[in-house]
Amino acid sequence: MDKKLNVIITDSDATMRNILKNYLKNIDGAELCAEFDSPQDCIDKAKNTPDCVLIIDLAAENALQTISLIHQSARQVRIIALSDLTTTSSIIRALRAGAIEYLTKPVTETAFCALIRGFVENDGDVSTNSCKVISTFSNKGGIGKTSIAVNTAVEIADMTKEKVALIDLNLQLGDVSTFLDLNPGFDIAYIAKNLDNMDDSELIQSLSQYKNSTLYVVADPINIEKSKEITSEQIDALIKRLKKIFSYIIIDVSTSIDAKSIKALDISDVILLVAVVNLPAVRNLQRCMNMFEKLGYSREKIKLVLNRYMENEEIKTSDIEDVVKQKVYWKIPNNYLTMMSAVNKGAPVSRINPDSNIAINYKEFASKLCDYLITSRLQNK
Ligand SMILES: Nc1ncnc2c1ncn2[C@@H]1O[C@H](COP(=O)(O)OP(=O)(O)O)[C@@H](O)[C@H]1O
Ligand SMILES: [Mg+2]
Repeated sequence: MDKKLNVIITDSDATMRNILKNYLKNIDGAELCAEFDSPQDCIDKAKNTPDCVLIIDLAAENALQTISLIHQSARQVRIIALSDLTTTSSIIRALRAGAIEYLTKPVTETAFCALIRGFVENDGDVSTNSCKVISTFSNKGGIGKTSIAVNTAVEIADMTKEKVALIDLNLQLGDVSTFLDLNPGFDIAYIAKNLDNMDDSELIQSLSQYKNSTLYVVADPINIEKSKEITSEQIDALIKRLKKIFSYIIIDVSTSIDAKSIKALDISDVILLVAVVNLPAVRNLQRCMNMFEKLGYSREKIKLVLNRYMENEEIKTSDIEDVVKQKVYWKIPNNYLTMMSAVNKGAPVSRINPDSNIAINYKEFASKLCDYLITSRLQNK
């Protein structure tokens, strides 16, 4: 193997550095590139080293800021956080900052070698692996699928400050651009067709940035005829390409199930299955669950979201859970006025009324979802 993985170790404890260096000697395809005793010293080295894995101890005061800084400016660096702490909050903090792995001290040789060998074998496409894909789905219109895709995407971008792509896969009459008052220069038909001729920065420029945020929209085709030209292979290639650039992708999937929607649902880490609380909707949920089962999706992948939820509904949450045999993951309150105003003004609810129950609810939802996505990736190994 000619290409080596370059490992940088940052820990104020020299004994710990020596232990890791010794473990590293037994791993083919990886070698020590540099070692530092304080986080700020490793920044330039990590950014400028190809095929780099950075191991960084969290005990130092500015370790988390260093992780975010490196992650934001050099996404190719694979960052492993090292810590004495085993608490979920500590793990989430490190992963939110941009670490993709978390090792607890004392580090065993088995755990360390398995992790580094995994990187060696993977040959480094870390950005693809760390991107999380969320779809919103309902087999009926008017339930709130687009509202949820848009508001969740905005919240994730605001909260994480990471690059978030929002794809409107309602190829005939999508609403995402309208919900965000955007006038896209290019649409998904153009982008999908020209994907191979664009480098990453051209691709980003062809998307519609929402205000000055880190959210970028892939708009639906302006011309309905053009939507017919898009193939499911193009959708697959587009999502795979975006996964290399973005940290999160949110897809507003069409209600009609075709090869393109299935591609998007297949690639998704999580499907937000949206419903409202009434009898026809519960029946529809059942149909969707059956379809997902046929598609081979795990129950874990499906997150049931009740929209326009009101307390004291005739049908209880537990009734729905009994019928579809799936726990409700989240409930979004009914707030007609704020939602109406948001749609009419082309803005997310957080910009219309940040103190409203629905804006607060979306914030909490985005936070729960992101925490789930970053921690489940570790657990699924
Ligand atoms: N939580 C909510 N409370 C009140 N109205 C809502 C809520 N969520 C969505 N709506 C409204 O429901 C309508 C349909 O929402 P939309 O997101 O376009 O649904 P879909 O994409 O499923 O067709 C919109 O007018 C929207 O403002
Ligand atoms: Mg819609």
